[in-house]
Amino acid sequence: MSEHTPVISLQGMSKAYNMGEGRVQALSDASLALPPGEMLALTGPSGSGKSTLLNIAGLIDTPDTGRYLLDGEDVSQLDETCRTLLRRNAIGFIFQGFNLVPVMSVADNIDYPLFLAGINAGERKRRVAEMLEKVGLREQAQRRPDALSGGQRQRVAVARALVKWPRLVIADEPTANLDSHTADQVITLIRELCHAEGAACLVATHDDRLSTRCDRVLAMRDGYILPDAPFTHLAAPAVAA
Ligand SMILES: Nc1ncnc2c1ncn2[C@@H]1O[C@H](COP(=O)(O)OP(=O)(O)OP(=O)(O)O)[C@@H](O)[C@H]1O
Ligand SMILES: [Mg+2]
Repeated sequence: MSEHTPVISLQGMSKAYNMGEGRVQALSDASLALPPGEMLALTGPSGSGKSTLLNIAGLIDTPDTGRYLLDGEDVSQLDETCRTLLRRNAIGFIFQGFNLVPVMSVADNIDYPLFLAGINAGERKRRVAEMLEKVGLREQAQRRPDALSGGQRQRVAVARALVKWPRLVIADEPTANLDSHTADQVITLIRELCHAEGAACLVATHDDRLSTRCDRVLAMRDGYILPDAPFTHLAAPAVAA
């Protein structure tokens, strides 16, 4: 794997779902590549295929056709056990609904992926403390999620996604439940952490103001990624050393 190898390369992804009598083509021949540290926003109307593409990239769903390279390795043909391990170790997820464990403290929520990965207690403690500091939640470490604001909860989810040093971060409408100021802070935080860690990040969002915070924007319609217009390149992607 060279330093120019994209973190992910999706080639010719298609996916159809059965819907009653018929079939809906959720994704049609979609291709994209993400270098380390780049944050790419997928925009487009409801039903245009954003979540379908994110779920395929996150190894949650499988395409009907297409080739998927993760860090240069073809992961298209892996069995479910390998997919689960890879998903757990290499991919961080941030969802609209936060998806935190309500009975666990903030610190334990962030620790959980490290526990699952079998990392020893001392190392976990160090990494959780570092993440709490980075997302500005040191004071809230022992609180339960329901004692936090929406923006704070999403920062816990960001910390949980990044604590395992993922290669790829998947964020599906991560700011949909937040007011615009808080949304702005959360998206900036995701971007800074991904840049710093060299993690590629795929974000689905309806919100044009948020997509302009990303390094690149691709629009989707009816399962297709629209041709990439030059003005959608907003900034050169930062590549971590
Ligand atoms: N599990 C499923 N079963 C059947 N149809 C599905 C399934 N998931 C998605 N679809 C269909 O695939 C198409 C693309 O859906 P997708 O959820 O990817 O869109 P989206 O761009 O994420 O929309 P939104 O902005 O509303 O989240 C839609 O027509 C949707 O109804
Ligand atoms: Mg969606």
